[in-house]
Order: sequence, then C-alpha cells, then structure tokens
Amino acid sequence: MYKIGVLVSGGGTNLQAIIDAIENGKIKNGEIATVVSNKADAYALKRAQNHQIEGVCISPKDFNTKEEFTDSLINHFEERKVELIVLAGYLLVLDKKFVKHFENRIMNIHPSLIPSFCGDGYYGLKVHQAALDRGVKITGATVHFVDEGTDTGPIILQKAVNVKAEDTPQTLQKRVMEEAEWEIYPKAIRLFCEDKLIVKDNKVIILSD
Ligand code: GRF
Repeated sequence: MYKIGVLVSGGGTNLQAIIDAIENGKIKNGEIATVVSNKADAYALKRAQNHQIEGVCISPKDFNTKEEFTDSLINHFEERKVELIVLAGYLLVLDKKFVKHFENRIMNIHPSLIPSFCGDGYYGLKVHQAALDRGVKITGATVHFVDEGTDTGPIILQKAVNVKAEDTPQTLQKRVMEEAEWEIYPKAIRLFCEDKLIVKDNKVIILSD
C-alpha cells in the first residue's frame, strides 16, 4: 500500500476526486496519509477532515528561512512514510531540495495540454484566458512528474477537451476540471500505485494497463 501526501492551497476538487477514487476502490494500492496546505483556511483541509484524513497547515510564514520550511515539509512526509507527493492546486513553488528528495515521486496537474499555456505565470484562470485569446479549438489537462522547472517534468497522462465559441475562462475551467482533471489525476495515481509508471529520458512509459 503506497502512502500518499497531498499538497493543497485552495478548494481541493482534485483532492476530492482522489479521495473518491480511493473510497470507491478505483485506486486500490494507495491511501492518503496526510493533506498539507500552506493556507490554514483552505477548503481542501475541510475535505480531508470530512473523510477522517489528517489535514495540517505548514506555511513558510511560520519559519525563519525557506530552507527551514522545506526541511519541515520533508520531515512531515518522511515521518508518515509518504512515497508519493500529489500537488492538487498547490500555489507555492517547491524548493529544489524537496524536488530532489522526492525525485519522480511528485505529481502535478496542469489545466492545459502541455507544452501549451504553461510555465511561469500560467495558473488558475490565466491558463484558460490564454487558450481563449489564442483561439485554440482544443485544450485539456496534463498530469506530469515535477522536476526543477515549471511544468517541464515528464508527462504521465493528458486528456483533450473541446473549446466552445461561447466559452469564458470560467466555463472552460469548469469543463476542463469535470471532463479531464478529475478523471486523469486519479488514473495517474492508480498507475503509480500499481507500479506501472517508468521514467526514462524525461518520458514516462506506461506499462500495459
Ligand atoms: C486545478 O485547475 C489544477 O489544474 C490546478 O489548480 C487547480 C486546483 O483546483 N493545478 P482544486 O483546488 O483541485 O479545485
């Protein structure tokens, strides 16, 4: 059984999709050991609590240096024997030391088809606004492993979503979540927990499912 640690900052709908996939047996070999937010009032912490999962706030504000904050995060996950870190709407950039410590064991979801509309400054509604400004007909979501860059790590799964002429950033964000994010994030976690993901030359090989 893999122990999963989830990092959040906000509403936590992806966290909810993962909790649901574990509770309904779609993810069999994984359990969430802890949910960590950098914001004490993140609704995602309440979602954890509702499912009897530990939810704690670890904020850089409570530490003198960034290094102390990073060490505290690493220790928190190590104490709970966490093997997979899942970023679910986590708005802080993780320090290199953290990324190296959990190399190829940190996943993120980005609400576009990487390499479109990703990298520094592309978060939240800005991603969808950029897709609409460019006039793309298809967008989607991408689950990837986290490396030291922003949205540059090995891609695990992607799913496309059609853009409609009448879309606003808000309607597009909602459809990308409903049609892509909540489906591919639990699936990527399931594949990891079944030892079906192999990283080679910055690419992910998925063993037959
Ligand atoms: C999602 O759009 C995800 O793609 C991005 O942050 C958002 C988090 O939403 N990384 P939620 O907190 O899971 O509802």
